[in-house]
Parts: sequence; C-alpha cells; structure tokens
Amino acid sequence: MDIRAALKNGIAQLREANVPSFTLAAELLLLYVLGRNRTWLYAHPEEILSDADAYRFLDLIARRAAGEPTQHLTGKQEFWGLEFEVTPDVLIPRPETEHVIEVALDRLAVRELRANRPPKSDGAGLQIADIGTGSGCIAITLAKELPQANFVATDISPAALAVAKRNATRHAVADRIEFSEANLLSPVGAQHAAPHPGKIQNSAPPASRESRLTSHASRLFDLIASNPPYIGRREANSLAREVRDHEPHAALFGGEEGYELYADLITQSAQHLKPSGILVLELGHNSLEAVQPLLDTSAWTNIGVTNDLAAIPRILAAERV
Ligand SMILES: C[S@@+](CC[C@H](N)C(=O)[O-])C[C@H]1O[C@@H](n2cnc3c(N)ncnc32)[C@H](O)[C@@H]1O
Repeated sequence: MDIRAALKNGIAQLREANVPSFTLAAELLLLYVLGRNRTWLYAHPEEILSDADAYRFLDLIARRAAGEPTQHLTGKQEFWGLEFEVTPDVLIPRPETEHVIEVALDRLAVRELRANRPPKSDGAGLQIADIGTGSGCIAITLAKELPQANFVATDISPAALAVAKRNATRHAVADRIEFSEANLLSPVGAQHAAPHPGKIQNSAPPASRESRLTSHASRLFDLIASNPPYIGRREANSLAREVRDHEPHAALFGGEEGYELYADLITQSAQHLKPSGILVLELGHNSLEAVQPLLDTSAWTNIGVTNDLAAIPRILAAERV
C-alpha cells in the first residue's frame, strides 16, 4: 500500500465512524507512524509503506474510529507552539486555554507600565501559581515566556503531576516550577494557611490535621492562573465520546452544575495574592453568570472578561485590592 492509498483508506474509515476532522486525524496518525512532516507526506504519495507501518497505521485508525482521541494515540498536543506530552491522566490542552496565557501576559505588562518599567518583562522576582495544572501547559508556557519567574503548579491528581513534571523537564523549566499535590492551593494533608489579612468571602475547604505543609501554602503570588474543571455532570451525556469516555473526569467535571469549584478557588486566591496580584480564570461556556458575582467584593478590582474566538466569555480576570 502506498501513502496515497493508506491515507485514503484511513480517511474513509474515520469518516464512516463520524470522527470529527477525519482528514486531519488520518494525516496526523500517518505522520506519527512515519515520523515525517506534512510536506514530506504530500511530496511522496507513491512511497510504499512497510508492512509494519501499514499495520500500525491501520491499528491506530481502528482505535481512533472506536473513539480514542488522536492525542492519546500520538501522545502529544501542541499548545502555544510548544509540544506537550499527553496521556489519559491529563486533559488534552485546548486552544481556548491560550487565552489564559494572553490575558496573564497582558495584565503583567500593564502592571509593569504602571510601575514605569518596560512592558515586556522577563518575570524576575515574580511568583506565579497555576491551579489544576494537568499537563502543565499553563505553568510551563508562562515559564517559557517569563524566564526569570518562579512557579507553583498544583493538582489533586498525582498521575497528572507526573505528566506535568515530564513536560517541565522536556521544556527545561523544571527547576523553576514546584509541583504540588493539593486541593486547589491547600497541600493535601496540610493545614490550610491564610497568609493574607484581607477580607475572605467564603470558607476554605476543610483541612486535615496532618501537617505535611509544603512551602507554597504560605507563599504570596503576583499571579494566579487556573483552568479548573468546569463542565456540569448533568451535561455529561452531551459531551463527545472522545471527551466523556477518555479524558479524566477530575479534569472535566466541576460538580453537578460545573461552576462549583470557583467559590473556593476565588477565596483561596484572595488569600494567596499579593496586593495588586492578578487572578486569571478560564470559564466554562455558561459559567460567567455564576462566577463573576463571586468577585463582587471589596477584595477585587479591575475585573475584566475576554471572549474566545467563538465569542464565548472565556476568561475572567481581576486584581487583588
Ligand atoms: C480542566 S483541567 C486543566 C488542565 C490544564 N491546566 C489545562 O489547562 O489544560 C483541570 C485540572 O484540575 C485538576 N483538579 C481538579 N480538581 C482539583 C482540585 N480540587 N485541586 C487541584 N486540582 C484539581 C484536575 O486533575 C485537572 O488536571
């Protein structure tokens, strides 16, 4: 079988199985098997596949047709121009989440301008937290953009943290990111710390008596970013099978409605941000109405909403008073 025939066969099988973006998926799987780029693929349509490559490709096509995401089959996804390892233990980074990076960098630049410094900073002296880091895509991308900043990246899933650490090593930023198993910012098994004297709107999640307090529990941050789980369990049946059956439910579902985690997230962020510290949150497609009022207290100012490319309010940002 030559390349053209293999691709035609793969595309036909994926189309038949109602796989979204079936042509792209077949191409990506063939490129993955051959270890080539797209230019090579279309320059060599007559090249004959080895039996081993043809077998591997058709096996991957069958798995994709049965619902496994392409990224789980190739083990990677691009985000902000960087390649991230993904496994079934982490959310596959989504393009919408690149708006978290844009808004975070924009807000930091404005802060620099206000301090009469050039807007493009290397992040020297900045302490940044990424809550619910998953693959690590937010913390690692910001670490590449801000090569002098230091980070804490938390997740409730130790399996996700293992993937995030490998991604940090791959992108040579592991020495600046402290990965921590935590419930939002409360280290698992630690007393919850409340270092900020400001007003707190809600009570923090109950803390265990054990005191395995890691250093970040008492740290204050210049920026806290998070893409928390925000899908409602009641919406589970409307999700694509690739998502519902293959991505971790701890990364998808925020509760019955979806927005349940934001109250504690905002409370803990208020406790852990420096004065003028920045909060950047990704929102679910219908979360804004439930989440924005949580910032309606004397603790927050400069509240802003950014739409994604589909005009959905996707990012909510605010500044700690
Ligand atoms: C929507 S995913 C986002 C992953 C990654 N930041 C991204 O943008 O692709 C949410 C992540 O939060 C983690 N998570 C869920 N509940 C959490 C909690 N209470 N505390 C910390 N992390 C949590 C999940 O394990 C998952 O990795």
